[in-house]
Amino acid sequence: MSDAPTIKIALKNFKFFQERKPLLNGITLDVVANRILGVIGPAGSGKTTFLRSLNRLNDLMPDTHIEGQLLLDGEDIYHPGFNVVSLRKRVGMLFALPVALPMSIYENVVYGPRLSGIRKRERLDQIVEQSLKAAFLWDEVKDRLQMSGLRLSGGQQQRLCLARVLAMEELEVILLDEPCSGLDPISTAKIEEALTVLKQKYTIILVTNNTKQAARVADDTAFFLLGDLIECGKTEKIFTVPDDKRTNDYVTGRFG
Ligand SMILES: Nc1ncnc2c1ncn2[C@@H]1O[C@H](COP(=O)(O)OP(=O)(O)OP(=O)(O)O)[C@@H](O)[C@H]1O
Ligand SMILES: [Mg+2]
Repeated sequence: MSDAPTIKIALKNFKFFQERKPLLNGITLDVVANRILGVIGPAGSGKTTFLRSLNRLNDLMPDTHIEGQLLLDGEDIYHPGFNVVSLRKRVGMLFALPVALPMSIYENVVYGPRLSGIRKRERLDQIVEQSLKAAFLWDEVKDRLQMSGLRLSGGQQQRLCLARVLAMEELEVILLDEPCSGLDPISTAKIEEALTVLKQKYTIILVTNNTKQAARVADDTAFFLLGDLIECGKTEKIFTVPDDKRTNDYVTGRFG
């Protein structure tokens, strides 16, 4: 059968330790290409740690080690020969607090492409327009691309940060860590709308403290608790007939 889903990321009994303390206790999970995986769970359950393992941002913490495997397109990203610089271009990340760079909207978007050597004005103009359109921000800023990015609203700055991630040509996976936590409902809806379009091209992992957001946009949902993956499945199943009582308690708001 040719329509078997493509596994973009596979974790095989993946463990992450900090100062010998396990923060992820052996995660086995397949992330399917061109779908949105929602990641939910209470504070301190390891959602951010999981996300930061996927582009090796956790490496920046002192005294860490991993066990097991984490494969991107079948390649072990923790293999000593794996190119981490290229990994971070392929696996981009959007954080909870939008921080535009202190430069124009235009320069915010082309910052990455310029660093990777793109110089032609026409090409840069094209990247700016494409990325801002894909981030659902273009119409609001197209007439003032030279204005400082810092003068945009929080919701607009978050979409500018998304555009900056989308401007990376090698991008394959988008990681988002509570990207809408400080945003109003309209900005939130624009990010969600952007994600549902972007999944045609990318694989998306969305950590959210808002279970309703996962229910709205995620195709699959993973529930984390105390560093364990309790269960992962189709979003509809996780929210209606989960296998584990703890998942049910969490999604129905009866947790803790
Ligand atoms: N730099 C660090 N050093 C030591 N422990 C850490 C560090 N970062 C996170 N932890 C611990 O790892 C565990 C998981 O934290 P993590 O930030 O991944 O949780 P989370 O699910 O993202 O929580 P939240 O919903 O609050 O963002 C927590 O017990 C936390 O205290
Ligand atoms: Mg977190």
